[in-house]
Amino acid sequence: MKFVTKVVDLSTHKSECLILPIFPNGKLSATGEHVNKACKGQLKKLINRGDTPKKAQQTLLLPELNHPTIKRALLIGCDEEPISVLAFQKLIQTVITQLQTSNITDATLCLTELAIENKDTHWKARQLVEKILNGLYQFNECKSSKKPDFAIKTLTLAVNADDEKAAKKAVNEAKAIADGMKISRDLANLPGNICTPDYLLKEASKLAAQFSAITTSSLDEKAMKKLGMGAFLAVSAGSSQPGRLIVINYQGGKKTDSPYVLVGKGVTFDTGGISLKPAPEMDQMKYDMSGSASVIGTLFAAATLKLNINIVGILACAENMPSGAATKPGDIVTTMSGKTVEILNTDAEGRLVLCDSLTYAERFKPKTVIDIATLPGACVIALGNTPSGVMGNNPELVDQIKEAADTSHDRVWELPIWDDYQELLDSNFADIANIGGRAGGTITAACFLSRFTQNYPWAHLDIAGTAWITGSQKGSTGRPVPLLTQYLINQAD
Ligand code: BES
Ligand code: MN
Ligand code: ZN
Repeated sequence: MKFVTKVVDLSTHKSECLILPIFPNGKLSATGEHVNKACKGQLKKLINRGDTPKKAQQTLLLPELNHPTIKRALLIGCDEEPISVLAFQKLIQTVITQLQTSNITDATLCLTELAIENKDTHWKARQLVEKILNGLYQFNECKSSKKPDFAIKTLTLAVNADDEKAAKKAVNEAKAIADGMKISRDLANLPGNICTPDYLLKEASKLAAQFSAITTSSLDEKAMKKLGMGAFLAVSAGSSQPGRLIVINYQGGKKTDSPYVLVGKGVTFDTGGISLKPAPEMDQMKYDMSGSASVIGTLFAAATLKLNINIVGILACAENMPSGAATKPGDIVTTMSGKTVEILNTDAEGRLVLCDSLTYAERFKPKTVIDIATLPGACVIALGNTPSGVMGNNPELVDQIKEAADTSHDRVWELPIWDDYQELLDSNFADIANIGGRAGGTITAACFLSRFTQNYPWAHLDIAGTAWITGSQKGSTGRPVPLLTQYLINQAD
């Protein structure tokens, strides 16, 4: 689908359908008033008759507009201005539903002029384009016949002349982010029998083929063993799929610039290992590589936007399976850092692949390191499905992430990783245990990682509640590609 940003003259603009807000008591926007004039008072007539939407998100499609060049109008009910961010998101969802169910091929959106507190045109255009592109996403890889594409082919964003430049920039960013999200969602939605560590390597290599600024390499189990990655290898030990540590290098800045490093959990299926998970909903553990998928999607977006910084993506890929060769509860392994870990629960595997990957990250002399992981189920209990959890060892980095989360509306909430929690990881037999008990599970997981990230500014994004949704719309969300891309855009600016 194509997005065009345009300063339109509504008396001569050609469109199959104009999408217009309508406020309480039948009030129209400035654009709406213009259109009403151009169609000889048709809108006002319908308003006076009481036929138009009266509540937020109600819609009315006028299939026949008395307008020389605009065929139809879709009126969408809105709250009194300024509307809230949540109301704007619901409004976008209403537009998406309409586009999914209609046969209109081209439409013009007059929604960037809506007043939202503290949000400018750039923000509104970014949200509209990114959310609509995402809303029209369909997963098509695994059905024998492809779902037909939605009818819509071209959307025009109607903007004021003053806002045109900001809107164009926003559309450009939104497209890159939405494309990155699509890559991420496709990968995460693929089942574990297709999306293996080697499959992720192929996908990462595609980026290198696509962008000259990207190179991809990987460590196999032999190379990891040489480096002493005993924790990482303990996870893939029970699987016939070999583990892989994949490195994606994007050089958009000077060769000597130190990079921003993103480390993604890439457990392509998490059975729990010998600490086997219960059967119900275990299929969802194909999403346990969503962190890695988001790193691939973000690198795609960053390379598309030609950000003038260096970025390293590290994907910690393994399958967590029980077998005769699998790690057992109580096993003790030595990590690349030299610290020993008592694996009390083989289902706390994410932190095991991550800790060695985080130690490996040191060799890039990173500016900052952000890891992204579906770490504990506890995060879903603590925060639900709205924000990702954020924790870190550097308040400035955490603040930058919060700012990027606000700008991208891909939200986060900070949890405290105070030293008070560290002793929950004490082990009688090794330097550290890999679990800290049920209480504060999101925090103790981050505390575990913090033992391996002392040499650089680090933040941990827990996406256990945000990477996918369940229910009838079950599927990957593509989060936190918008947040990560925004963070990198801000660093490049
Ligand atoms: N991948 C899971 C976390 C998860 C589970 C995320 C369900 C989203 C939904 C992780 O590897 C895991 O199994 N964590 C354990 C940790 C526990 C053993 C300390 C958990 O949450 O039970
Ligand atoms: Mn697990
Ligand atoms: Zn897991």
